[in-house]
Amino acid sequence: MNTPYQILGSEGIKKLCESFYETMEAAHEAAGIRRMHAEDLAPVTDKLIDYLTDWMGGPPIYQTKYGTVCLTEPHAGYAIGPKETTQWLFCMDQALDKIGASDEVKEMLKVPLERVANAVQNRDVSVADSMDRDPNLIAIN
Ligand code: HEM
Repeated sequence: MNTPYQILGSEGIKKLCESFYETMEAAHEAAGIRRMHAEDLAPVTDKLIDYLTDWMGGPPIYQTKYGTVCLTEPHAGYAIGPKETTQWLFCMDQALDKIGASDEVKEMLKVPLERVANAVQNRDVSVADSMDRDPNLIAIN
């Protein structure tokens, strides 16, 4: 069976990552996670290209450059709860649609992408949700 890297190719993965961050920039559905990112999305776009090349079965570019493929530490400084995970996966779904990815590749990636996004999630409740539930937090502030 072909790997996603073989199906999409380097060019396809680059387009996917560019489209992913273009979606994050433009879609109100992703405004929460857009705010977490630096103003300039170019550096993280390059890192995601390197990461997904590796992760989709291509050459281990990210691993070679950064010495690890563990995503826990780069995300540790951000509050990533269920809402943020949903927003990230939303951007990826949109990006896959925008680049015209086949149903075959979408199906191959669906569960593994959910798994990696859930692994990056580092809290059970999104900050926005905990504020919704406790209006005193706003009163204190
Ligand atoms: C689950 C929701 C996620 C959120 C909210 C999130 C958010 C972020 C943020 C805020 C950054 C720092 C960006 C910057 O410096 O401007 C980042 C970096 C990064 N993210 Fe995520 N992320 C998520 C999931 C993922 C997933 C699932 C992957 C991979 C499949 C991923 C791959 C990366 C990579 C490769 C970097 C750069 C890490 C480095 O500095 O080497 N992220 N992410």
